[in-house]
Amino acid sequence: MNTKSKPFIVSVTSGKGGVGKTFITTNLAATLARQGKKVLVADCDLGLANIDIMLGINPELNLKDVVFGNMHLRDVIIPTKGGFDLIPASSGVREMAQLLFEKIQIIKDMLLDIEGYDLILLDTGAGIAEVVLQFNLLANQNIVVINKELTSLTDAYAMVKVMYQVFGRQSFSIIANNVPDEKNGLSIFKNIDSISRRFLGFPLNYLGHVLQDEAVGKSVLKQEIAVMSFPRSRIANNFSQISRAVLDLKKA
Ligand SMILES: Nc1ncnc2c1ncn2[C@@H]1O[C@H](COP(=O)(O)OP(=O)(O)OP(=O)(O)O)[C@@H](O)[C@H]1O
Ligand SMILES: [Mg+2]
Repeated sequence: MNTKSKPFIVSVTSGKGGVGKTFITTNLAATLARQGKKVLVADCDLGLANIDIMLGINPELNLKDVVFGNMHLRDVIIPTKGGFDLIPASSGVREMAQLLFEKIQIIKDMLLDIEGYDLILLDTGAGIAEVVLQFNLLANQNIVVINKELTSLTDAYAMVKVMYQVFGRQSFSIIANNVPDEKNGLSIFKNIDSISRRFLGFPLNYLGHVLQDEAVGKSVLKQEIAVMSFPRSRIANNFSQISRAVLDLKKA
């Protein structure tokens, strides 16, 4: 097996919902794609998938057709305006929200088989449900998104703790999203980092921050990708820095 051709798999996850995982996944993917990387995004929020909505597309096939039909993962991949490819999932399909372990394994095995990409980004659901833990386990690296709300920190710590206690994982990267300035991002990272050092015995890795910006909400409403609509904005700059840090993880 030529391990060099295997894509680097990164999950974008969080303890608390609504902290910006999907926004970060699509904007990071678009940033990496602009840098010439071949990127595949998988919508792994199986019950409430919404990357297709965020991108304003209406895919014919999605993960449901892989799990309950005869499709292979490769058959449902579609190109996007972000320059990256997408594996869409379904929203509001109860069976997908309650997938049996074996079905999750089928998706995981197919993801591991995919070639021809530099990176695969997995946009997970929030929380510590088994399906989220399984996608995090599959990934080479987990990015945990936090914001300045105290509950996002405690829930992110819960995610890190469970991944460590159940699977022995000790390497996690943090992005501080929706922060007023660089200093605030670093300070909330330091909070969770010091809790991890103290109670779990290992440090966390800081990938950087994304500023709070009203352009984000506007882009989401218009189903656009913020870094593409505003390529010279401060958040586009934030994503450039984060993408460099992600590529460093890949090299490490
Ligand atoms: N940096 C930011 N600046 C301003 N608004 C933001 C920022 N990041 C996220 N938001 C807002 O938060 C909303 C939720 O983001 P998003 O859907 O990406 O969160 P999520 O973590 O994927 O949620 P879920 O847990 O439901 O999947 C976005 O629609 C956007 O309006
Ligand atoms: Mg989401």
